[in-house]
Amino acid sequence: MPKIRFENLGESYEVAPGTSVLECAIDQNLPLDHDCGGNCACTTCHIFVKSGMQNLTPMSEDEKSLLEANERLDEQSRLGCQSRVKSGEVVVQIPE
Ligand code: FES
Repeated sequence: MPKIRFENLGESYEVAPGTSVLECAIDQNLPLDHDCGGNCACTTCHIFVKSGMQNLTPMSEDEKSLLEANERLDEQSRLGCQSRVKSGEVVVQIPE
């Protein structure tokens, strides 16, 4: 089973393949905002991927444009709602 570790919260969860980081956070009641309801339209679900980026679905052009427009695009940045875990472990950090 794929695994998501929320580094700065000290929590780790096994998830079904294809689960997004946001879906996992909502299921576990973790503090990850999602103002647009997970529709790639707000950036409030912004996360940093500390390791395992290769285990996530790739970034779409829409996600990239949104992060860029909000000056949040760097090599660790993703949107939690658009980051689905395919396999292995992903370590993420929810920004303060
Ligand atoms: S919840 Fe709005 S972009 Fe992810």
